[in-house]
Amino acid sequence: MSRHIISMKDFSRDEIDFILNRAREFEPIARGNTSSLLSGKILATLFYEPSTRTRLSFETAMKRLGGDVIDLGSVESSSVAKGETLADTIRVIGNYADAIVLRHPREGAARMAAEYSKVPIINAGDGAGHHPTQTLLDLYTIMRESSLSDMKIALVGDLKYGRTVHSLAYALSLYHADMTLISPKQLQMPDVIKKDLKKQGARISETTDIEDVIGDIDVLYVTRIQKERFPDPAEYQKVAGIYRVTEELLGKARDNLIIMHPMPRVDEIDPSVDRTKYARYFQQSFYGVPVRMTLLAMAMEAI
Ligand code: NCD
Repeated sequence: MSRHIISMKDFSRDEIDFILNRAREFEPIARGNTSSLLSGKILATLFYEPSTRTRLSFETAMKRLGGDVIDLGSVESSSVAKGETLADTIRVIGNYADAIVLRHPREGAARMAAEYSKVPIINAGDGAGHHPTQTLLDLYTIMRESSLSDMKIALVGDLKYGRTVHSLAYALSLYHADMTLISPKQLQMPDVIKKDLKKQGARISETTDIEDVIGDIDVLYVTRIQKERFPDPAEYQKVAGIYRVTEELLGKARDNLIIMHPMPRVDEIDPSVDRTKYARYFQQSFYGVPVRMTLLAMAMEAI
């Protein structure tokens, strides 16, 4: 496997299964058992876009494994504000850290950074492109809370700009999942991705309504409309609030349904759903820790 983690397209099913199984072993440490596996190692976090879960779960993972974290901080307070290029920043930070977690607004930024980096680059989101570590924790959540085999899953929301669903769809095709893509017409999954998925033999259908499938799926994966990616705010207004998962909608759900969301949510899942047996999105954010522990340990050649 490449040392860098850039896109789910670079992963085979065997590699993913290996990561998910190793993550299971890290769960007790994620829950608070101590470890010194990465003691003496340093992770650098470079977030050129907002983040809560991704940055803090990487930091938690590193620290619970005995390692240390250096953080670029806000872009305004770093040399980026003086006009330093991403390539230069990456070359410099590679002199300090053993791996770099990078989130950047430009699609392809992580792939480009990897060309300049002597340490592993972990893509924590590149614009509307990919978010592979989120996908691995999503798969882990499905493995722990449902099942990865014979899965019927619906991806709902902003499938055009949502990088989490781009990465997830590639991985799901490796598991032969039955996928329904639910979005308004203007936010459909990009054609290039659908073509790729079909080439891999993925089973995909598309619709605009959650009601069409809610009684027939095991996993409902809800996403936020990615307001910040719309070139025209008026276009965002047309689709803002278009989906809302409510207790009433769930009246038709299967007993074993699980609801996931990469978070943050805006209004697409009603807070009353949090109390239902279907909600898994907070659990999902915890699973980011053991999965990212695995990725860090692999990047730093400790496993
Ligand atoms: C996602 C992202 O940044 O793409 N957040 C996350 O990492 N959990 C989803 C989003 O911002 O909507």
